[in-house]
Amino acid sequence: MTDVNAAELIFICFMLLQGFVTSLNCTSPTPESLVDALEKNLFPKKLVRLVKSFSSPVNITIGITVVGIIGVDEKSQILTTLLWQILEWNIEGLSWDEEECGTTRVSVPREQLWVPDINIAEYMDEDKAPKTPYVYLYNTGHVFDVKSLRVVSSCQLVIYTFPFDIQNCSLTFGPYLHFATDMRMIQGLTSEEILKESQDVLQTNGEWELAGISVAPSTLTLHGGSYSEIKYYIILRRRPVLYVVNLLIPSCFLITVDLFSFLLHPQTVDRSSFKMTLILGYTVFLLIMNDLLPVTGETTPLINVFFSISLALMVASLLETVLITNIQCSSSQYSAVRYLAGSLARFSPKEEKEQPNHLPQPIS
Ligand SMILES: *[C@@H]1O[C@H](CO)[C@@H](O)[C@H](O)[C@H]1NC(C)=O
Ligand SMILES: *[C@@H]1O[C@H](CO)[C@@H](O)[C@H](O)[C@H]1NC(C)=O
Ligand SMILES: *[C@@H]1O[C@H](CO)[C@@H](O)[C@H](O)[C@H]1NC(C)=O
Repeated sequence: MTDVNAAELIFICFMLLQGFVTSLNCTSPTPESLVDALEKNLFPKKLVRLVKSFSSPVNITIGITVVGIIGVDEKSQILTTLLWQILEWNIEGLSWDEEECGTTRVSVPREQLWVPDINIAEYMDEDKAPKTPYVYLYNTGHVFDVKSLRVVSSCQLVIYTFPFDIQNCSLTFGPYLHFATDMRMIQGLTSEEILKESQDVLQTNGEWELAGISVAPSTLTLHGGSYSEIKYYIILRRRPVLYVVNLLIPSCFLITVDLFSFLLHPQTVDRSSFKMTLILGYTVFLLIMNDLLPVTGETTPLINVFFSISLALMVASLLETVLITNIQCSSSQYSAVRYLAGSLARFSPKEEKEQPNHLPQPIS
């Protein structure tokens, strides 16, 4: 313990000797003199976060904009989005005079500064977005850092109500290493501003629509310390038209045809083979459309139940037709008996065959 304290003391003394970043003194209002001043006074101090005392946390203000919804993979429960991440923080004590140095802001390489290690907790794959090399540095010591992120994140996708489903995916931004005593996350834009900005820039017009965003600060307690985090909930709504047109409407058509096939005259058309053809057609339809249906391990979408019930109904109606035909066939030889039953006459089937043909044929 004393060793640590001694090391800390030496380090603090060293920092005091070095002096914190103070106001920069430019010799002339040119980029060259500002670069000289930055190189002398700021860039060598990128090893530690620049605060006046170690006990004061650095405040990181974060904002995001959703630029694209690249994909939703129900099978592996993965959401892929393209974001702009805006980080802002202050370098305590840094300042320069606008007139003396000629500008209020300058872009500097990110590697030359201490930058926060902000990470997304739901990351499932590496970020493949192009890297941007610069951040803006203002004469008040304010740092403005924008970069694009291609976020492949895990998300619990619920497809029970497919294709009318709404997904709620969280993205948790927080420091990887720094405890809340060292780094505090502050919400920049409100959820309404983020939603409006995102809807303005959203490029993709695919299957998913951005329905809402909500933001909430949160705290994670782990490794004996607490971390300050900001959680974004991204609400996505599926555009169901494709599935309604390709799945639901054809399926309803086939079922309607199946229902109305009872109107067919059983003696002119073979009703059972008509129904058999319908079932065959429905099976082929299901096989082709299987690719459109999402798959996950645990839940079955309601639409699959609907398809199964439809198929079951069609099979049941075929069985019923078979039964009815069977009853009709076996009773057809007694049909004359039935026809004449009203007049209480009793004929055997043999006698019916010998009937003169002037009697109208019974309708079965
Ligand atoms: C800049 O000049 C002021 C006085 O004019 C001085 O207090 C300050 O230490 C100087 N800064 C540096 C980095 O030399
Ligand atoms: C961070 O914000 C808190 C209040 O929100 C403030 O008290 C503190 O001084 C800020 N720290 C820095 C380094 O600006
Ligand atoms: C999304 O999920 C979070 C946490 O489960 C919840 O607090 C939030 O209200 C949900 N948002 C919507 C719109 O359902």
